[in-house]
Order: sequence, then structure tokens, then C-alpha cells
Amino acid sequence: MNAVRICPSILNADRNNLKSEIAKIESSADWLHLDIMDGLFVPATTFSFDESVEIIRDSKIPVDAHLMVANPDDVANAYAIAGAFSVTFHLEASSDPRSTLKAIRKTGAKASLAIKPSTPVESTFDYLDDLDMLLVMTVEPGAGGQSFMGDMLEKVRTLRDIFTQSGRGPLIQVDGGISLDTISEAAKAGADTFVAGSAVYNATNPSEMVDSLRRLAAASFKG
Ligand code: DX5
Ligand code: ZN
Repeated sequence: MNAVRICPSILNADRNNLKSEIAKIESSADWLHLDIMDGLFVPATTFSFDESVEIIRDSKIPVDAHLMVANPDDVANAYAIAGAFSVTFHLEASSDPRSTLKAIRKTGAKASLAIKPSTPVESTFDYLDDLDMLLVMTVEPGAGGQSFMGDMLEKVRTLRDIFTQSGRGPLIQVDGGISLDTISEAAKAGADTFVAGSAVYNATNPSEMVDSLRRLAAASFKG
């Protein structure tokens, strides 16, 4: 596994040409980040379950499913069974995070918990032994193209300190507003896995943008 991972989000890619949009990043990206919104946990809706399964099935690279749904305890496992490499759900929406994380892991997929900007990092502490990745949102979930919230990096620093001291190894992912301007500070804070939507798909050459983001992140990351 690379020291840092770049995960392009296809949220703002051209939906009418999704296959060719995904093909643009398949040779350079580590994971394909799939944002699933249900119109309840967040106002927008994106990919249906069937559409998601098709993307997972067709993708040449691992699919990182980010569920922004109101009932993750009921549906998260289905994405894992469908072949998602990792399944992330929101702590705020779950009534039994531990069971859901365990069920995802049982399929062989990576289990991951996300927190919104208003959720304190301490609320994840009970689950650190049951997960493979933590997603610290650096924008309010629901839309691409928002401004990076630099104050969220305090959560990343706290988690990185805990993992360094305890020798634990979950990945720390950041999502929202990651670009050439912000990725270095996020990596310096201790993030090792980076979602980038508009930065990648607004670039003239998305594949080269992934490489540039990875170079910057790797240069600043201290695990
Ligand atoms: C927002 C999504 C993000 C989004 C990021 O709710 O979770 O993955 O696509 O988009 P950018 O990189 O444009 O902030
Ligand atoms: Zn996302």
C-alpha cells in the first residue's frame, strides 16, 4: 500500500459519461471514492444501490464507499457484500456502530466511521479497535466544491497522536475541500488518505492532478 492514498470522488464528475470519467483516473488513483447520499441524512441524493453495485463491479480500482445515509446499520453491509473495498458510514446516523463495523469487517471489507464537522473526535474513541479507517469530514457532508475547514485538522492531530502512542494503525481520511492548496497541511496534521472531488475533476488532466496531490501529501506526511 502506498504511504498516502488519493481517492478521487466522482460526485462532480460528468454523470452522463461516468465510465470515461472513471477511466481518466484509474491508472493514477488509489481508490475510487463513491459518495452515496439518500436525501435524508443529507438533502441530496446521488447513486442508488443498483447504480453503486454497477460502479463497484466495473471499477478496476478499489471502491471506497462513503455512505451519507440515515440508516447505515441496515444497509452498510450490503455495499461490503457487493464488493466495496471499504465502507464508511456516519457515526451520527448509527445506533449501533460497533455491530455495523464488525459486520462490514466480517465480509473482508475495510470498516470505517465518519464524523461531521460538529461531531467531537472523542465520540469515536470507543470504536478505535473495531475500525480500519476514520473519516474526518473537512466540509459539511452533502456537496462537492465547498471550502476546506482547516480547524478540523485538530481532530486529525488528536487521532494521529493516539495512533502513534498506542501503535494502532487505522487510516485517517479527510474529505472535503482537498486541493493543491490544502493537502499539505492535512498531511502534516497526520492524514494519510485523501478524498478529492472538484480538485481532480475540474483539472485539465485529472490523472496528473492525482499524481501532483500524491506528491505533495507524501512530502508532508509524517505517520
Ligand atoms: C461531500 C462528499 C465529498 C465530495 C468532496 O459530502 O463526501 O466526497 O465529493 O468534494 P470536494 O473535493 O470538491 O470538496
Ligand atoms: Zn465523500
